[in-house]
Amino acid sequence: MNSREYFSIDFKDDQLVFIDQTKLPLKEEYITTDSYERIAEAIEKLEIRGAPLIGIAAAYALSLAVKNSAGKNVDEIFQKAFQRMIKTRPTAVNLFFALDEIKKVFNEKKNDTENLYVKLLYKAKEIHRDDAEKCRRIGENGLTIYKKKSKILTHCNTGKLATGGDGTAFNVIKKGFENNLVEFVYADETRPLLQGSRLTAFELERSGIPFSILTDSMAASLMKENEIDFVIVGADRIALNGDTANKIGTYNLAILCSYHNIPFYVAAPDTTIDRTLVSGEGIKIERRSKEEILAINGVKISPDNYEAYSPAFDVTPSHLISGIITEEKVFTFPYNFIK
Ligand code: MRU
Repeated sequence: MNSREYFSIDFKDDQLVFIDQTKLPLKEEYITTDSYERIAEAIEKLEIRGAPLIGIAAAYALSLAVKNSAGKNVDEIFQKAFQRMIKTRPTAVNLFFALDEIKKVFNEKKNDTENLYVKLLYKAKEIHRDDAEKCRRIGENGLTIYKKKSKILTHCNTGKLATGGDGTAFNVIKKGFENNLVEFVYADETRPLLQGSRLTAFELERSGIPFSILTDSMAASLMKENEIDFVIVGADRIALNGDTANKIGTYNLAILCSYHNIPFYVAAPDTTIDRTLVSGEGIKIERRSKEEILAINGVKISPDNYEAYSPAFDVTPSHLISGIITEEKVFTFPYNFIK
């Protein structure tokens, strides 16, 4: 790997290797572990993050729990690990999809203890590979939304760091750039944890795409100046009617787009569609600790006794979404995803 290359996670020599995303872009540190507990912690601390990626990491974590269960009751160990992983983060449905896929294999093969780890690992690798392929197809399908060489605004991080492949919304931008359809990208800072100014900026720079970082409150004035041709974001959970949960601040952008008559797109694999939810009302929104608001990158900006409101996601109603790009096609409003 040359010094400009990077990856989010890899599975090598029976261990998970992941880049610590909390340190990016100033430090590129890879952590190697075979402990499911360490992977659970990494997901909670956002060392590993992004809806598809946390699902993939959790699938590897359950496989590792079984690998390390020699001499113990594998059923008990698996259930404990499953309960631990399921509690890491509540909003991205990809996590629950991946955990259920691994559980199905476990239930089918649990009596074949000798081959159980190999079978679970095979499934985890398949989930990883499938996500990479979905990203590739989302990138291809996304090319159809370009009406001209465009100036694009994006929020949070949806690239290689958030998925098992080249990204969702990020890959629509990357494929557009490779096809000479991208003039410039604006990356929202994405407060409080700065996934935009730290991670998307890092990925844009590594991809050679011209960009500027802006703080989340600057989008309206850019739109007014005709600086944005469209906005594209990822998703953590999409209901059957197209209501979409994504990083806090996404809903603001959708409203601004509607006011300024600018297309607003969501890109996500079908594993982000929650087929049990008819609308966004049932989506559980993660609340994170107030310390993430009272400090920036560990540096305190307000005293500990201040209260802070800290939802990690918001829900954008589907009528504000011009199109949802999946690996299948570009869906348009009204959305009626099949159960
Ligand atoms: O809290 P995060 O960083 O995990 O939030 C991530 C997002 O909101 C992304 O936009 C979403 O997961 C899509 S990633 C392809």
